[in-house]
Amino acid sequence: MAQVELKNVDKSFGKIKVIRDVHLSIEKGEFVVFVGPSGCGKSTLLRLIAGLENLTDGEIIIADKPVMDLPPSERGIAMVFQSYALYPHMSVFQNMAFSLSLQSLSKAEIKTRVEAAARILQMEHLLDRRPAALSGGQRQRVAIGRAIVRNPDVFLFDEPLSNLDAALRHDTRVEIAKLHKQLDATTIYVTHDQVEAMTLADKIVVLKDGEVMQVGSPMDLFNTPQNEFVAGFLGSPKMNFFDGNLSKVTKNGLTGSFVGEGLTANSIRLTSPEKQANDRIRLGIRPQHLQINEKGNLVGKVTLVEKLGTETVIELSTKSGTPFRYAAAETPNISIGDSLKFKFESNRAHLF
Ligand SMILES: Nc1ncnc2c1ncn2[C@@H]1O[C@H](COP(=O)(O)OP(=O)(O)O)[C@@H](O)[C@H]1O
Ligand SMILES: [Mg+2]
Repeated sequence: MAQVELKNVDKSFGKIKVIRDVHLSIEKGEFVVFVGPSGCGKSTLLRLIAGLENLTDGEIIIADKPVMDLPPSERGIAMVFQSYALYPHMSVFQNMAFSLSLQSLSKAEIKTRVEAAARILQMEHLLDRRPAALSGGQRQRVAIGRAIVRNPDVFLFDEPLSNLDAALRHDTRVEIAKLHKQLDATTIYVTHDQVEAMTLADKIVVLKDGEVMQVGSPMDLFNTPQNEFVAGFLGSPKMNFFDGNLSKVTKNGLTGSFVGEGLTANSIRLTSPEKQANDRIRLGIRPQHLQINEKGNLVGKVTLVEKLGTETVIELSTKSGTPFRYAAAETPNISIGDSLKFKFESNRAHLF
């Protein structure tokens, strides 16, 4: 049985529908990431699971129990927010113990739990400190500690790294991944950052305007996006898109031929089975999947060269003015205004 199940979940604020017919099944121990642009409903969906918002319609089931009528404290969840809001006048120990002291637990039991969480987070030496004497990363760890001591069935994280600087964000992300391996607890994690989603998730749920766009493993979504939104959202630099026509449908609607931007490309994966020959269509190809090749028939003029150290991103423009990017592991010897020809493998491209 799934640990968390959402069945046709709807949520409206007044007349505005912000979550639309979400169905989702989360297995025990799974790390699930809700990702999407700001305002798409990620926090609302998480708050519905936590019980901080009421459903407009649908069902939420946690550990086989419908929880719609249960308050947050009885849902077996613990939530970590972006703003960690520690009590400034309390020590780290007291901050982590606070929610437990509201339950009828013995002092000894509270001490055992807090010390166990501190050990997991490697903060045993910080237990007597006040939050003011901690770095941002350490404060966020205390907030995670507050969740761990409650021993929840499900951890809920809402953009926990957004308040940290870039280096700390990376370190804390790695810590959260390790923590999940260690605790093996079911985790639902909200972020607008596709890198966090790709690196942390067993399963990614991509949301747009309150609707699920696609659910799958990071590499599934990266390699076989079902729509242009998912294709454009995951991956950096963003996937290139070119307008054209579907000249031919092949393999029972699974693949098609693209004509546009002066090129023809055959046997490209069709994402929509409804498309027919002569329909307008968009060709998607990632910047990393282009190869400079004299025989290539995608031609672009270089408009900008960005050397990032790890890779070089070259901005180009086709003859008709469509911008696109090429990402190269090595820095090729080229200048602005140069004309380049590219090839790509048909199994790396997509038709939307
Ligand atoms: N309490 C509320 N009252 C009215 N509208 C809200 C409320 N909370 C969120 N919204 C709206 O719901 C939509 C989704 O918000 P939210 O879940 O916070 O998005 P995200 O976390 O993906 O950025 C937004 O349009 C937001 O303005
Ligand atoms: Mg949010």
